[in-house]
Amino acid sequence: MKGVVLAGGTGSRLRPLTQYINKHLLPVGDLPMIQYAIDKLSQAGVRDILIITGKQSAGLYVDYLGSGDSIGANLTYKIQDQAGGIAQALALAEDFVEKDEKFVVILGDNLFQDPLQPIIHAYNQQAEGAMVLLKEVEDPRRYGVAMMENEHIAYIEEKPKHPNSPFAVTGIYLYDSTVFDIVKSQSPSARGEMEITDVNNVYAASGALSHMFLKGWWIDAGTHESLFQATLLVRKEFN
Ligand code: DAU
Repeated sequence: MKGVVLAGGTGSRLRPLTQYINKHLLPVGDLPMIQYAIDKLSQAGVRDILIITGKQSAGLYVDYLGSGDSIGANLTYKIQDQAGGIAQALALAEDFVEKDEKFVVILGDNLFQDPLQPIIHAYNQQAEGAMVLLKEVEDPRRYGVAMMENEHIAYIEEKPKHPNSPFAVTGIYLYDSTVFDIVKSQSPSARGEMEITDVNNVYAASGALSHMFLKGWWIDAGTHESLFQATLLVRKEFN
């Protein structure tokens, strides 16, 4: 299975740090943020990894990660010229993935404890469709939130003011190659972005969106407070 790490976007919630460097190169503990997603993929045996980033700091990714050889990965890089949303960034992976090939996507600001291997294994048992990973959180309002019906995801609401469940949809997604046709059928949301939640809702509407729950800690390090918390978590885990 191939892997895609999405590391574009503007990182506006981490300004002023992201005025001079792309969010996913900011340090989390001893390492740049992006290293955690790459390590998770490598540890699960995913060697072919596409990194999609914006123009800002693009050369620094190559400076730091190179070909990926030193960490046993085979890295490919692509540039998302404008931050038009997660689904728009994902669309850039179309040529990287073979027709009928499944793949795993990690948002570069998502750090988590669970190993990916059992998740990939479970997804591989599924003939088609997509899988998302859920995590129960205290305040789900800044995430996609899963509305459950009979233990299935009926619908995902993006950043709801009044969440109908405590289950955040994390930034770890497993797709089949039909995802690219689904992205093409979507339009930008009211905030002008191609939303990954809209894409996942197409799968949910056709009963083709499965889910698992993350057991360990999970954090979206996209704000100053959560970046600080992420640093504490990784220092506890790896030091
Ligand atoms: O962290 C999980 C959440 O991530 C989900 O619960 C939400 O459903 C999902 O929309 C997303 O929400 P965020 O508001 O946290 O997304 P953000 O704009 O911070 O983008 C997350 C990552 O996606 C970011 O680290 C880089 C990548 N990205 C984002 C945009 C907007 C791109 O590569 N290109 C983009 O244009």
